[in-house]
Amino acid sequence: DIVGVDAWEVLDSRGDPTVRVRVDTADGSGTFTVPAGASTGAHEAVERRDGGDRYGGRGVREAVAAVRDELEPVAVGRPVTDQRGVDEALADRDGTADLSRLGANAVLGVSGAVARAAAAATDRPLYESLAPSPGPGSIPLPMINVLSGGLHAAADLPIQDFLIVPTGAETYPEALETAWAVRRAAAKRLGDGEHPPSVADEGGFVPDVADADAAFETLAGAVRDAGFEPARDDVAFAVDVAATHFHDPDRDRYALGDTAVDRGAMIDRVASWVGDYPLVSVEDPLAEDDWEGWARLADRVGDRVQLLGDDLLATNPDRLERAVDGGVANAVLVKPNQAGTITRARRVLERAQAAGWAPVVSARSGETCDSTIADLAVACDAGQIKIGSLARSERLAKYNRLLGIDRSSDGGFAGAAALAP
Ligand code: PGA
Ligand code: ZN
Repeated sequence: DIVGVDAWEVLDSRGDPTVRVRVDTADGSGTFTVPAGASTGAHEAVERRDGGDRYGGRGVREAVAAVRDELEPVAVGRPVTDQRGVDEALADRDGTADLSRLGANAVLGVSGAVARAAAAATDRPLYESLAPSPGPGSIPLPMINVLSGGLHAAADLPIQDFLIVPTGAETYPEALETAWAVRRAAAKRLGDGEHPPSVADEGGFVPDVADADAAFETLAGAVRDAGFEPARDDVAFAVDVAATHFHDPDRDRYALGDTAVDRGAMIDRVASWVGDYPLVSVEDPLAEDDWEGWARLADRVGDRVQLLGDDLLATNPDRLERAVDGGVANAVLVKPNQAGTITRARRVLERAQAAGWAPVVSARSGETCDSTIADLAVACDAGQIKIGSLARSERLAKYNRLLGIDRSSDGGFAGAAALAP
């Protein structure tokens, strides 16, 4: 049983405060640290920040106090292996659907630490104790950030991530080697020959281009320089447009550089990328509440490319249900802190699998060296993971955790077959 819960404030990869929680049992303890987004969606569970002057208002002392004062009494005495029971009790204590009263960062902190404490108490690796059924899950296919724009970088590029998917790799270590070679080639193309280019929040390089086609061409060049083919079956491309963050809701226009385009033009543009590049996954190509636009895009390209909902779905079971019913996408990003508990995140993941959708477990742009999501992806056999670039220790902690799981587990590598459709 859980005997104690403690929480305190630590700093994340942007140097901003976040919540760390430790859960103790007689047989072992678990610690979890909550990540934070920058390009957050309106429909996410709500992260609680103190406001005021301290840390520019971004302190989390109130969330920490909520863990100690309100959530510890709920958790203590419960079996640490009853993740669902604990998570439901935590959410009940908060009492709001979006966990805004105590803060999703307080609730998820406890939920994640319970998962880790359960693994410790039962002396099992986390990817085993989190698994809904026995038997090893596969190591997920990574989509790896190479170029960054949007809210993650001081770039003129409004689009957030240009990523590669090593679809030709037969093992997870080979996928990382491929990504390393492409990233290094990109650094050579973008650097001045003496200094490495600057990196953004997720370790991607900040290109000196403003439009998507130039970024895709840079990516294609880097892939060729590294000795691979930019092709759907060798080194494929993915993009996180994060369109909500350059969409003006009043005028219903997307600000792409000097031009503001409407929904139809955005759809045309995405369709042209799908035709022109070896693009296998498109995330958030339209704003988070444009259900009709998403449906139109899905009709147009949904049979050829993975349409991945992040801000649209916000790891929310109700929004996923609506999206499955409407057929507006075929893949869902799974971010535990958008959901607020491990159980809710797992529910979204499993519902996606049952619907024939592809779940993609994802980090946030603000992270720590906590590697729980790597285990979660293997435990649930998610098939894909999105962590950022091959740089910055908060990213590598997760990539390296997967190398460790690859060494000790025999669930194989999900590979290109994990991609929707
Ligand atoms: P965020 O970015 O963590 O800043 O939201 C990640 C993403 O958009 O996928
Ligand atoms: Zn996203």
